[in-house]
Amino acid sequence: MLKTKMTDLFGIRHPIMLAGMNWITEPNLVAAVCNAGGLGIFATARCTPEETRENIREIKSLTDKPFGINQILVSPGAKDNIKIAIEEKVAFVNYSLGKPWFIDEVHAYGGKVMGTIALAKHAKKAEEAGCDVLIITGYEAAAHGADATSMVLIPIVSRLVNIPLIAAGGVYDGRGLAAALALGADGISMGSRFMITKESMVHDSFKKLCIGASEQDTLYGNVFDGMPGRVLKTKEAEAMVKKGFPLIDSIKGALLLKRILNLSPGQFVKTAMDMMTAEEGHSVWVLARQAACNMKHMMAIMDGDIDGGILFAGQCCGGIEDIPTCQELIDRIIIEAEDVMEKTSMLKTGS
Ligand SMILES: Cc1cc2nc3c(=O)[nH]c(=O)nc-3n(C[C@H](O)[C@H](O)[C@H](O)COP(=O)(O)O)c2cc1C
Repeated sequence: MLKTKMTDLFGIRHPIMLAGMNWITEPNLVAAVCNAGGLGIFATARCTPEETRENIREIKSLTDKPFGINQILVSPGAKDNIKIAIEEKVAFVNYSLGKPWFIDEVHAYGGKVMGTIALAKHAKKAEEAGCDVLIITGYEAAAHGADATSMVLIPIVSRLVNIPLIAAGGVYDGRGLAAALALGADGISMGSRFMITKESMVHDSFKKLCIGASEQDTLYGNVFDGMPGRVLKTKEAEAMVKKGFPLIDSIKGALLLKRILNLSPGQFVKTAMDMMTAEEGHSVWVLARQAACNMKHMMAIMDGDIDGGILFAGQCCGGIEDIPTCQELIDRIIIEAEDVMEKTSMLKTGS
């Protein structure tokens, strides 16, 4: 068994976390990871407050283990979704892209706050704000990393802060877990790898596409949802890179998002303004591009539209070769990590 600060703090068996992934981390997948000894995280970005509550309650009905929610703070409905998570006393509240205003409220019921960072300079700020754990996202990751790889970022951050660290980006096997621990992390968070499991709702055609992909088959840029992010190479993703700013798609997508999230015109404008004043200073167009991206994302994961869809995915797709259950995957990663760690310590002692 690998015991780390992460397993101690979270009260879980293995230092492995399911990364929050909008649409994909639905209750079955979250519960499957929790029941297999990891930490499941449910991403709420796509949810109305009612859906957030329903999903949290569904997860509670599927597992008695601790779990968390993930909310992108610059997304529409972030404040309401966080409020629901607090009312439901969710054990772990993970945020990304924004400033956490809710830390004291989460601590008041014994919950923990997990900040996601991609820049070392945000690590100390998050610790000082009261975050209990940091998730460090490297350049290899699906969706939103920054320019530094996990290899560089984790050791830098581990020198800056004292709270537990979770490595995200590029990890898909036991060697990755062992490497993350060696770099100074206390556990790993995996998105792409858990996306390609039996319990994941991602359409089979995209699971197969990820398995067939090499480590070179992703594209990184800000044309997809307006923020630097990584997607699987598909026809549509390549066309978006060529086309640049997708004005018509953005308007269509913004209208769709407004409808899905039940936003009044006033709320929609307010959300756009909130995004402009967020720490990262995104423009109103980012919201529209996020919406357009959401539409294409749904075409990928639900309809399996290989031509028209786009899917956030990490470079580690190049190393993913099968579709295990979450239990099989977690057990295999732990055995492999322990094996690697044993071998490397044998090398150290020269035996
Ligand atoms: C399809 C998909 C959707 C994602 N959605 C979110 C999200 O809603 N919120 C968030 O903070 N990160 C999101 N991410 C990023 C993951 O939480 C995680 O940081 C990333 O997958 C780690 O890199 P890896 O894919 O190499 O494991 C998403 C990733 C994927 C693959």
